[in-house]
Amino acid sequence: MLIRIPRRSEPRSSEITPESVWRERRRFVEAMGLSGIALAAPGLAAAAHRQDALRVLKGVHPSQWKVDEPVNSFKDITHYNNFYELGTDKRDPARFARHLKTRPWSVVVDGLCEKPTRFDIEDILSSFPLEERIYRLRCVEAWSMVIPWVGFPLSALLDRVRPLSSARYVAFESIYDPKMLPGQKRRVLDWPYREGLRMDEARHPLTLLAVGLYGKELPGQNGAPIRLVVPWKYGFKSIKSIVRIRLVDKQPPTTWNLIAPEEYGFYANVNPEVDHPRWSQKKERRIGEFLRRKTLMFNGYEEEVASLYAGMDLNRYY
Ligand code: MTE
Repeated sequence: MLIRIPRRSEPRSSEITPESVWRERRRFVEAMGLSGIALAAPGLAAAAHRQDALRVLKGVHPSQWKVDEPVNSFKDITHYNNFYELGTDKRDPARFARHLKTRPWSVVVDGLCEKPTRFDIEDILSSFPLEERIYRLRCVEAWSMVIPWVGFPLSALLDRVRPLSSARYVAFESIYDPKMLPGQKRRVLDWPYREGLRMDEARHPLTLLAVGLYGKELPGQNGAPIRLVVPWKYGFKSIKSIVRIRLVDKQPPTTWNLIAPEEYGFYANVNPEVDHPRWSQKKERRIGEFLRRKTLMFNGYEEEVASLYAGMDLNRYY
């Protein structure tokens, strides 16, 4: 079990998000009508998303993309989450994941392409070769994990719709359904959650569409049934529960950049040299470890991705 020991250099949860978002937590809990008993017993609500209740994914191949570091436990990965559609506390997504219904589900890929397509999730699962990739995830809040994702490169999906040469960026949208997702009943964020990548970032072989972890389908709290994973960027770029991917010619608006542009840039590359305005990014706390470790440039993927940013001032494009 993880014992969380806050250090002076680590941001408190009240400091991480703009104050309005943090205050929303209390109102959210009240709106959900949660009793003290429900709050004290997160395991009850999370039972529907236990590891043994999840479907095993078939035909998953190991991949060359594997960091040689201990992998976080299933418990850590599924009980310490950011998924504001399910609440703003780290434990809320596991508690409320049962609200997220993931069938039927489809992902529309459209915009500047020859063949706009609506992909059904079952077709995605059966037609793209699935790989297990062990990636570091570094959150902007200065914690990190190592996660065994199952998925396939985003570029494989983009190839299917034949992007036009005018498509320079890719815009992503999460599901918007306030009836189903308790966190969306309030405007904590400007829903739906949105993210974006430059086309070369989107087509980079490391950029993954994840459909599972630990060999099984994704639990709701981790962004079921399909989410992005961009391992060299802060975690907020890795948008969950995607319903739309749009090819566009201009840099698309993104959720955290809209809410606090001076704190959360469009690029959001992990960079220990560029501090968040309210805390240092030089170190991180690996969930489950006691001592803080040094944060690596591009989260340790410098060799693979640094060339994407050659000539760019990374202090300006943070
Ligand atoms: N996607 C959506 N739709 N909503 C969110 O609140 N949070 C982001 C990202 N994707 C978020 C999201 C943040 S801040 C992080 S750190 C990662 O999801 C966390 O992913 P994990 O819970 O699987 O570790």
